[in-house]
Amino acid sequence: MKVLITGGSGALGKSLGRAFKGSYLPSHEELDVTKKDSVIKSVLSCKPDVLIHAAALVGIRECEEDKEKAWLTNVEGTQNIVNAVKKLSNNCYLMYISTACVFAGEHNKFYTEDDIPSPKNYYALTKLCGEIVTRQYENTCIIRTNFVPKAQWKYPNAFIDRFGTYLFSDGVAEGILDVSKKKEKGILHIVGDKRISMHDLAVLSGSKNVGKMTLKDYNGPQVTVDMSLSTKRWKKYSII
Ligand SMILES: NC(=O)c1ccc[n+]([C@@H]2O[C@H](COP(=O)([O-])OP(=O)(O)OC[C@H]3O[C@@H](n4cnc5c(N)ncnc54)[C@H](OP(=O)(O)O)[C@@H]3O)[C@@H](O)[C@H]2O)c1
Repeated sequence: MKVLITGGSGALGKSLGRAFKGSYLPSHEELDVTKKDSVIKSVLSCKPDVLIHAAALVGIRECEEDKEKAWLTNVEGTQNIVNAVKKLSNNCYLMYISTACVFAGEHNKFYTEDDIPSPKNYYALTKLCGEIVTRQYENTCIIRTNFVPKAQWKYPNAFIDRFGTYLFSDGVAEGILDVSKKKEKGILHIVGDKRISMHDLAVLSGSKNVGKMTLKDYNGPQVTVDMSLSTKRWKKYSII
C-alpha cells in the first residue's frame, strides 16, 4: 500500500512517517501545496493508495497577520490536493488533518463530530474551509485532533486556563493508522481520554520547569479556550 504524507517535516508529519513505515514524505519544495502543478506531479507520479494531508500553516499569529498565505496554503492548498487525488484512477483514500479549534471552545463542552463549528481565529477558519473543500471528494476522512510532540516545551510558560483532550503526536499518528485500516469516512475525532490544561501537557511532555500563565497574560489573536473534544465514532486514547 503506497502512502503519501504532506507536511512530513512537521511535528505530526514526523510521527506519521514513523507510524506509516515506507511512506513517501515529499519535502515542502518537492510538493508545495500552493502550486497546482507541483501537487499534480507528485501525486500522479506516486499514485498513492492513501494520501494524508497534514501540511498547513499552523501559527495562529502568522495566519492572522498573513491571511493571504494562510488562505493559499490551508484552503487553496487543500483544493489542489483534492483536484490531484480526483485525477487518480484508484479511488485513493484521503485523510485531512483538521483541528479542535474549528469549535468555539466553550468550557467543558467536549464537542463531538455532530457539533457545529464556530472558529475563533483565521487559522481555525482556514482549517474549517479546508474541511469543506475535502468534502468534495467522497473517499475521505476528516480527522480533528489536538497534539504536541513529546519534546521540550517551546515557550517559557504554559496556560493553566486553556484546556484540551490532548495527545502526543506519536499517539495521534497511531490513531490515524488505526483509522486508515478501517477506511472510515466523514468526520472523526482522535482524542485523548482526559481533559488537561496546557501547563499539565507541558509537564507531561517532560518540561518540569515550565512557568504558569493565564489568558490575562496573553496579548494576541483570539484563541480557543477549551479545545476538549469527545467522539461518537471512535475510541479515545490515553496520552501516556
Ligand atoms: N499542532 C497542533 O496543535 C495541531 C492541532 C490540530 C491539528 N493540527 C493540524 O495538524 C497538521 C500538522 O500540524 P503540525 O503541528 O505538525 O505543523 P508543523 O509542525 O508546523 O508542520 C507543518 C508542515 O506543513 C508544511 N508546509 C507548510 N506550508 C506548506 C506548503 N505550502 N506546501 C507543502 N508543505 C507545507 C511544513 O513544511 P516546512 O516546515 O518545510 O515549511 C511542515 O512540514 C496541520 O494540518 C495542522 O493544522 C495541528
